[in-house]
Parts: sequence; C-alpha cells; structure tokens
Amino acid sequence: MDQDATSSFQAFDLASIKRQTFVVEIEAHDSIPSTNDRALSLAVDAQLPTPMLIIASRQTEGRGRGRKRWWTTTGGLTFSLIADIEVLRFPAERHSQLSLAVGVAVCETLHELIPDHHVGLKWPNDVYIDGRKVCGILVEVPPERNGRFVIGIGVNVNNSLADAPDELRKTATSLIDVRGSEFDLASLLVALLIRLEQRLESLSSRDPQLAARWEQFSILRGRTVDIESHSRTVSGVCQGIDEEGGLLLRTSSGIERIVDGIVRHFE
Ligand code: BTN
Repeated sequence: MDQDATSSFQAFDLASIKRQTFVVEIEAHDSIPSTNDRALSLAVDAQLPTPMLIIASRQTEGRGRGRKRWWTTTGGLTFSLIADIEVLRFPAERHSQLSLAVGVAVCETLHELIPDHHVGLKWPNDVYIDGRKVCGILVEVPPERNGRFVIGIGVNVNNSLADAPDELRKTATSLIDVRGSEFDLASLLVALLIRLEQRLESLSSRDPQLAARWEQFSILRGRTVDIESHSRTVSGVCQGIDEEGGLLLRTSSGIERIVDGIVRHFE
C-alpha cells in the first residue's frame, strides 16, 4: 500500500469485503486524484495479486470517457478494479463487450435496490435512473497491454446532486435523491462486486442471457441518437444492441453498426 493509502477508511471493513467477494487485495484512500490512474500505474506490476480493488472517498481528478470529468464528493462510491484476463478466463476477442457486461452488473444491482424506479443502460455503459445518469463506467487497458484491464466505476450514492454544479443537476441524479434516504456504501460495494464477478463469468462462458440483459436494460432502442465514433458523428434511430455488443443504428444510408463511440445526444 502506498503512503497515501489509509487503513482508517472509516466506511469499509476491508477484510469483510475480501471475504465476501472475488477481490483478493484492497487499497483504500481518503482522497486521490483518480482511482483509475492509480490502478493503471499498479497494473504494470506482474506480481500484483488480482482482482485488486482501489477505493477512494474522494477523487480530485476523476476521469470520464473521452475528455469528460467525473464529479464526486464524499458519499459517492468510486472505485477501480484491476483484473487479469487469464484469471478471469476472458477471451481476448470479446473486449468490446466488457463495458456492456459491467453496465449490466451495475443495472442489476441498482434494480434490486430500488425496484420501483426505472434503471436503464445507455450504450455502452452509462447507468440511468428515471432518465438521469447515476453511474459512469470507464474500462481501460494499461498501455503495456499486459493482459490486465481496469474497470472504473463511479456511482452517485449519498452525494446529493443538490451540491453539484448547475449543468450536472439537470441531467444527473444520486441514489439518495431518488429514495430520499441514505444507503450503506459497503453493502452496495459488496453487492456490485458480486454481480460484477457473475457478469464477467457470463462473458467468458458466452452466456446468451447476458446479451438479452443488455438489450432489456437499454434505453436507446427506438430513439434518435447522435454518436461520435472515430472523429465522425453518426446519427440514426437505434435498432438495438447485437450479441457482440455493437449498437445498430438506422441511418439515411442504411443500418450502421457502431462498436466504439460516445453517445453525444439522444431524444
Ligand atoms: C463516464 O461517465 O464517462 C465514466 C465515469 C467513470 C468514473 C469512475 S470513478 C472511479 C474511476 N476513476 C476515475 O477517474 N474514473 C472512474
């Protein structure tokens, strides 16, 4: 554990998290620039035990997809998991589906927690509750491409959006804002990790139920979508997500399949 890591991470019993989940090592920080950056730097060590979890009460430079930032204050759940392709028996050709599998794991966890609300997945892996974003996911591969990947997850939990910048308040939400009462962060973390392990296993075993789940949670089907993909914008009506995780758009020139991109707008 590095100098910044603290063993006095009040909210979590780290040994209990290890006992209940597939995580074998945990590093906990009160404050850190970005758990994904920390995870990417640790992932170069071939001796590192995995899956390893990096959690933080606060991030000062949390990153999102593209050039986006991730806003967090205390009360949010922010963590990154370093996993090993070999340990998870994860076939190399299926990386494009990893983001969706992680998104499904988060959706399933939140759906169980707040069944009266609509939990949805915006391709590939933004999680929405009642039309507002509650969770962002950032899956990255270390530049060394050493068989590791990093799954970064940020969930707005007990951090009310009442304290967030104006433009974020219009589009985002948190679990406390939805239910009106606090959530136990440690229990939520354990539930998320258990689901994550299950969905990573679904991916390696090619479980057909996984594709059905991401289609079931998807909020884009039938909607007009603008996607930025490889420096161009593709617009069309979403026809669904195929079994390989590609987003199908009906555009003016026919059906386009997008495997990598950021949804800039949908209505
Ligand atoms: C997005 O919405 O574009 C993705 C946001 C991902 C945020 C998480 S929080 C934990 C991890 N560390 C980071 O710097 N980012 C991810």
